[in-house]
Amino acid sequence: MARSSLQLNSEWISQVEESLATKQLTQRSIAERLEISRASVSKFINCKPIALNTFIRLCQELNIDWQVASQPEREWNDELASFKFKHDDFKANPGGQIPPQEVVGREELINTLWERLRQQSLIFSGERRIGKSSILKKMTAEAPQDMLPIYRDLEGIRTPIEFVEAVWQDTETYLREVGRARRVREFLGQLIDRHFEGYQFPEIAASHWKTLLTKTIEDLITLQDKQVVLIWDEMPHMLGNFSDETAMEVLDTLRSLRQTYPDVRMIFSGSIGLHHIVKNLQKAGYSNDPTNDMYPIDGQPLDLAAATELTINLLEGEEVPVFNLQKTAEDLALAVDCIPFYIHHLVNQFKDAANEITQEQIVDTVHECLRDPLNLWKMDHYRERIDNYYHEEQKPYALEILDILSINPPTSFTRLWQYLKTEPETKDKEMARTVLRLLMKDYYLIQEDNLSGSLYTFRYQLVQRYWRLSRGL
Ligand SMILES: Nc1ncnc2c1ncn2[C@@H]1O[C@H](COP(=O)(O)OP(=O)(O)O)[C@@H](O)[C@H]1O
Ligand SMILES: [Mg+2]
Repeated sequence: MARSSLQLNSEWISQVEESLATKQLTQRSIAERLEISRASVSKFINCKPIALNTFIRLCQELNIDWQVASQPEREWNDELASFKFKHDDFKANPGGQIPPQEVVGREELINTLWERLRQQSLIFSGERRIGKSSILKKMTAEAPQDMLPIYRDLEGIRTPIEFVEAVWQDTETYLREVGRARRVREFLGQLIDRHFEGYQFPEIAASHWKTLLTKTIEDLITLQDKQVVLIWDEMPHMLGNFSDETAMEVLDTLRSLRQTYPDVRMIFSGSIGLHHIVKNLQKAGYSNDPTNDMYPIDGQPLDLAAATELTINLLEGEEVPVFNLQKTAEDLALAVDCIPFYIHHLVNQFKDAANEITQEQIVDTVHECLRDPLNLWKMDHYRERIDNYYHEEQKPYALEILDILSINPPTSFTRLWQYLKTEPETKDKEMARTVLRLLMKDYYLIQEDNLSGSLYTFRYQLVQRYWRLSRGL
C-alpha cells in the first residue's frame, strides 16, 4: 500500500528542533528555503500528516533519515518488531532512538523491574534524559517469554478517547495472530448499527471511552495467555493535557481496571512528577490517591562503569582521537554526571577532533554547551518547570533556593533560611520547607546527612553549573 502522506514520529521532535537550531533555521526560513507553506512546517513539527514529498524534503534539509523518523501507520505496527536501525557501529546519536542492544548498563535494573512487575504495577519516574524510555523500549523488545509488554508514548494525546483508541490499536496489532479482538469491534458495531471494520474509532465512540477501555483490556487478557504489561510513557504529560475532572476519571478508571483484572500490569512513566498532576487534582477536590497500589521506582543515571563503557563505545565508533581511552571516557562520563543523553552529545562535539582530546577541552566544551543560547542541551526545562508547575507563591522560594545553592557548597536549612528571610517574597518558613521537598521530588536537589547535620545541594553538578550560568551568578 503506497502512502501519500507521512507524519513525524514524536520521538524525533527533539532531533528536528536540534537540527533546526544547529542549522540556524526557523520554521519560517526553512519554509521559504523549500518553497513550502509555513503551515506544512508547523504540521511536520507537531507530528501531523503532511504530503509525502514535503516530508522527505524537510527531512533531507535537516539531515534526518525520513524512513526512520516517520511514524509507521497503525496497520504497519508489526513491522516495528523487525525495525532495522541503520548502523552497526556505535555512533553518537543524541536524542535519537537507539537499538535495544545498544542500551548499556541496565540489565540489573531491568531484572528488578520484571521481578517487581510479577507482583504489582509500577510508577517509573526519573529526571528527563536519564534513559527511562530507552529502558522501557528495551524491556518491550526483549521481554521474558511469559510477559506481553505493550509500549506507548502518550505525549501528544489530548482526549481520553484518543488514549483508548491508541491502547486498542496497539492491542489489535498484538492480537492479530490469535484472532481479532472481538469485544471492542462488536461494541462499536452496535454503536454505528453495522459491522465495524475500521482502525479508527467513529466519532460516536468518544463518550464511551470507559466501556471501550474495559473491553480492550478484557480482549487482551482473554485472547492470549501472557501477563499483560501496559507501558505508558509520558503519562503525566497526557494527564496534564486533560481537564482536572477528566484526568481524575482516567486515573480512577485505570485503578479500578487494575483491581478488577489483577493480572494486568501497568507502568506509568514520565519526567514530570505525577505529584504535580495529583496535587492539582486534590486542589480540585479529588481525595483519592489513584496510584497508591503502584510501586514507585526512581530511574537513575548510569553507574560510572556503564557510563564509561558507553563512552568508550561511542569514542571508538566515532574514531575520536584519545591518549588514554579508559581515562578520557571516565572524564567525559563524569563531566556530565553519567547521564547517557549528554554523553552522546559530548562525544558528538568531539567527532571531528583533529588531536587527542584533553581534560581541559572536556570541561570547556561542557561549559560552552551549557551556555549555548540555542539551548542545544535542552537545559532550559529546569527553569521552565518552575514556571509551569510551581504555584505563584512557591516560585520565589524555588528560584531563591536554587540561586543560593548554585553558588554555595552543601548548605543546611538553618543557613538557607537566614538568606531567605531577608528577601521580601520568601518570609514563610514552612513554605520554604515545602518548596525544598518539592525541589527534591523534582530531582533538582538532594539532602545529604553528615556529622554536622542535614545539608541540601544540587543532585547533578551539571544542573548546578547550568543554573549558575543561566542566572548570571
Ligand atoms: N542505557 C543507555 N545506553 C546508551 N544510550 C542511552 C542509554 N539510555 C539513554 N541513552 C541515550 O540517551 C537518550 C535519552 O534517553 P531516553 O531514554 O529518551 O531518556 P528519558 O526517557 O529518561 O528522557 C537516548 O536517545 C539515547 O541516545
Ligand atoms: Mg522518555
